[in-house]
Amino acid sequence: MLEAASAVSAASAAVRHAAAVARLCGALDAAFDAGRRPGAPETPADPARHATFAKGVRAALAQALADPDLVTAAQREGSAEKYRRHLIAADPHGRYAIASLVWQPGHASPIHAHQTWCGYAVLEGTLTETLYRWDEARSGADTVRSHPRAPGAISFGASGRANIHRLSNDSAASCVSLHVYGVAGEQMATHVNDIVALAV
Ligand SMILES: [Fe+2]
Repeated sequence: MLEAASAVSAASAAVRHAAAVARLCGALDAAFDAGRRPGAPETPADPARHATFAKGVRAALAQALADPDLVTAAQREGSAEKYRRHLIAADPHGRYAIASLVWQPGHASPIHAHQTWCGYAVLEGTLTETLYRWDEARSGADTVRSHPRAPGAISFGASGRANIHRLSNDSAASCVSLHVYGVAGEQMATHVNDIVALAV
């Protein structure tokens, strides 16, 4: 009986997770629809340049933060060596990919700009975000400032070197963040980060 009960509970958790993923995808689809101009192609090259799109992605992330079933226990599991990324969903039209990132204490991303638009929200723990300014003459980035990003923090950025940052877990507890990138699922590891060097 206990086994049957736990099988039912696992099945209902999977159903709730699928519904939460569908809600987030629906909100992102709506952000694309809101930014589309009559007669324009369905997927503009860089929708992040439209303010309505950025607003829509932020709203989708805010809704996702309040959805406890979106990120499963398995998608909150970290790795000892470096921050771990779990693909949660990918748009069938290749317009976006959704992932959780799990950061153990001491884990950090490289300093990077983005090849595409992206948004993220902090689900658990506190990340530190360091911002940089690109110096074309020196072909490198200068540190501007760092700030803590607590649970509930939401950020959105367009592609390009006007937005350079590094995320790190400088705390003693693990962190989980939710990310949405403007790429197809299989391009997430290769077509998002534009890694840059510090200026010397
Ligand atoms: Fe980033």
